Amino acid sequence: MMTLESKKPDATRLTQYSKGSGCGCKVAPAVLAEILSGSRAGHTIDPLLLVGNDTSDDAAVYDLGNGTALISTTDFFTPIVDDAYDYGRIAAANAISDVYAMGGRPVMAIAVMGLPVEKLPAEVAREIIRGAKDTCARAGITLAGGHTIDAPEPFFGLAVNGVVAIPDLRRNSTGQTGDALYLTKPIGTGMMATALKRGLRTAEQIRPAIEQMATLNAFGAVAAQQDYVHAMTDVTGFGLLGHLIEMCEGSGLSARLDYGQVPLLESVAELTAAYVYADNTMRNWKSYEARVTGVDGERLLTLCDPQTSGGLLIAVAPEAEEVFRLMAEEAGQPVWRVGELVQSGEKVVVVGP
Ligand code: CO
Ligand code: CO
Repeated sequence: MMTLESKKPDATRLTQYSKGSGCGCKVAPAVLAEILSGSRAGHTIDPLLLVGNDTSDDAAVYDLGNGTALISTTDFFTPIVDDAYDYGRIAAANAISDVYAMGGRPVMAIAVMGLPVEKLPAEVAREIIRGAKDTCARAGITLAGGHTIDAPEPFFGLAVNGVVAIPDLRRNSTGQTGDALYLTKPIGTGMMATALKRGLRTAEQIRPAIEQMATLNAFGAVAAQQDYVHAMTDVTGFGLLGHLIEMCEGSGLSARLDYGQVPLLESVAELTAAYVYADNTMRNWKSYEARVTGVDGERLLTLCDPQTSGGLLIAVAPEAEEVFRLMAEEAGQPVWRVGELVQSGEKVVVVGP
């Protein structure tokens, strides 16, 4: 593994080249809504486009007419860690995740890269690509090409295509009243990355977070084959709260979140006690606070923590919970039950003990 320190002793670390980091560099939900607001009216919607941008879903989905659909998505961001190889692995897992979150299987990927070529040596780019290729190989796909530009801040990610049998397609907007909500990865990658960027934690200290971010959400493709899995999304830059709100609003429902059941990465408590959080945590909160109750102190910092390559959020029919847990266990996939979908109420999300 090559770190920037080892190759260029005087260079600062990869995370020092950018303002934001990981999915924390997403534009605010309110800004995104503004950007997209003009794009829906006045255009003919292609009837074969099964999922567009109207439900804030993970990827676009196009009916191929033979019972299957094409899934298309892209995701890229500024460095979340200092090590170039890890950065590549994480960015790739994060980008591919949106295919899994729709219930599909990835088929190929293209790299999207920006690099300040004056400041960073070519080995950095090579290591990022090597990391991405390793993740793609684990997903069973090839990194088939890409495009790199000279840019003031480094950024990297993939454009990914996938396929899905249409009955297995899972949206974020098809949850049903009473569904149990399951999460597949602990929360806290945003504050871990912030601690790393500020020099409060070393890469070795946040190794569990790094490995978790590099882990594929391939379980989504398996879960989607079950009829009792009603809706699915992945938790990224808008935090658990933001992506849960998207699921609720898309489904016309509310949710109860059991805070005590939300899995947190080790040492999250130390970081929240020291008020170490990503800049976008507060921005996320400002976008949601009117729609939520029961959130303060540590809860605010964890539930609004922008996740990079976060877990899947899965809505499961209540009568099938036991079967679902068994299926997850057999797949070697840890799952945490964090709440349930309920009839639409005054607040979109009610966070309980
Ligand atoms: Co997503
Ligand atoms: Co995405």
